[in-house]
Amino acid sequence: MAGLVVPDPRYQRSFLAAVEEVCGAHEDERYAGLTVIGQIGDFPGESFTAEELKDADTFSAYTRRLRTLADHSAWLPDGIVPATYLWWVDGEEYLGRLSIRHSLTPWLRDFGGHIGYVVRPSARGRGHAQAMLAASLPVAHDLGIDLALLTCDDTNPASRRVIEAAGGVFEDQREDKLRYWIRTGPAQR
Ligand SMILES: CC(C)(COP(=O)(O)OP(=O)(O)OC[C@H]1O[C@@H](n2cnc3c(N)ncnc32)[C@H](O)[C@@H]1OP(=O)(O)O)[C@@H](O)C(=O)NCCC(=O)NCCS
Repeated sequence: MAGLVVPDPRYQRSFLAAVEEVCGAHEDERYAGLTVIGQIGDFPGESFTAEELKDADTFSAYTRRLRTLADHSAWLPDGIVPATYLWWVDGEEYLGRLSIRHSLTPWLRDFGGHIGYVVRPSARGRGHAQAMLAASLPVAHDLGIDLALLTCDDTNPASRRVIEAAGGVFEDQREDKLRYWIRTGPAQR
């Protein structure tokens, strides 16, 4: 059964296979997950290449770096807020990932939202995004987010369906982004 885990070196093989799928499908390169922090203001961005991540030590450093992004005492460029990065895995198989931004900047409030997610191409259409988003809501709740903002492009029906299935309440559209609010809650025991 699939579940959320913190990024861990044990998924190196599977993670790199997922990167190849995204690249092979010529999808938006951000879906590959190689960017740790995108370019913003004077900050040039921070990312790894798939080639670099084939090295076990570098992959380990990459997973460590992703985990530090949740740390409120660590330096982040202006405009980037702490975020929790989680991977959706089944056994040893990496299936997808999500990030939960701990707070909203003006840009996140208009366009980015609290939670972003990607499922690797070969695992799509099997309910993983819906399950992963549902599993992330108690995590967001523990981070103090009672109402999570989720956004998707108006040209992304699969993501829209995922958000609506999670109980997303539509607020409005800003440029090409549809904006929804989802009430989080503690994990059901
Ligand atoms: C969006 C994404 C995360 C969905 O992942 P997934 O695991 O395939 O999603 P699920 O299987 O949980 O659910 C997809 C839902 O969308 C529906 N769907 C898929 N394609 C659709 C389409 N073209 N039109 C309408 N609905 C569609 C599916 O039928 C399913 O709904 P259902 O369960 O009611 O049948 C995945 O396509 C992805 O990673 N895309 C690239 C990154 C991305 O767009 N991320 C979201 C940014 S906001």
